[in-house]
Amino acid sequence: MAKIKWKNETTDLKKFIPSIKFQVSSFKKTMIKILFIGDIYGKPGRKVVSKLLPKLKAEENFDLVIANGENLAGGLGITPKTAKEMFDIGINVFTSGNHLWDKKEIIDFLTIENRILKPANYPPEAPGNDFYIFETYQKVKIGILNLMGRAFTVTIDCPFRTADEYLKKINKITNIVILDFHAEATAEKMALAWYLDGKVSAIVGTHTHVPTADERILPQGTAYITDVGMTGSHDSVIGLRIKDALERFITQIPVRFHPAKENLKFNGFVVTIDEKTGKANDIKRLSIPLINDETNIPIYRHPS
Ligand SMILES: [Fe+2]
Repeated sequence: MAKIKWKNETTDLKKFIPSIKFQVSSFKKTMIKILFIGDIYGKPGRKVVSKLLPKLKAEENFDLVIANGENLAGGLGITPKTAKEMFDIGINVFTSGNHLWDKKEIIDFLTIENRILKPANYPPEAPGNDFYIFETYQKVKIGILNLMGRAFTVTIDCPFRTADEYLKKINKITNIVILDFHAEATAEKMALAWYLDGKVSAIVGTHTHVPTADERILPQGTAYITDVGMTGSHDSVIGLRIKDALERFITQIPVRFHPAKENLKFNGFVVTIDEKTGKANDIKRLSIPLINDETNIPIYRHPS
């Protein structure tokens, strides 16, 4: 397989996204703008973020950048080194999920780095911060909460009751709350969204790595998307090299997985929120391919 050459790979945002600007009405002084980046998958995902995030930030002036980072390191887990690399290029807070603890070197780091969240409905003994209050440059406080679904996943506390419990704490500080609901089942994600409509500013689904086209603002003002998708290779099986995934499915024996490197895309979700009410005002789903500077076409390699 041809080796990936990162040099010259970038994306002219204007060519691929005619306008990621929001309606003029969105640009009131009381609006805050948040970018959520879908699961960053391994080194290819980190490369996409490194190339595109600085350009997006320069264009859009986000108040806060959140990313799901549970697959940052090799596609399974997160390490101090990969987390620091992403913090350095502008991610403010990481959410996570069931893979947070896969790399053992993260365990101690979680006790000192409170910008990496664990799903709050895991046992209290599991290392990781359970919620985070981010303060913007203009001193606006934003609560970030992470929950894990229970359908087809792990045996943990009820995400509905846990949301109630944490919102009581967070709402003493702020009414702007972003929730990453890391879950397998669409129905569970939608149910929680309806349960929390009007109680949180945005619910962003993660974990399945495939973006859904159902982004909307619910009637009581909560922005919602069932799954924001994944940032990494899209000629893959949810980020994994296709031949590894096929071998696993066909033989049913354990196979070492590697992150795929082809057809790299950045998937994300942008929401503007009224700082006074905490309600969502406008949303946009982003899916941006990494393209070649010289040819102006998306980087695309057939998997071998
Ligand atoms: Fe996950």
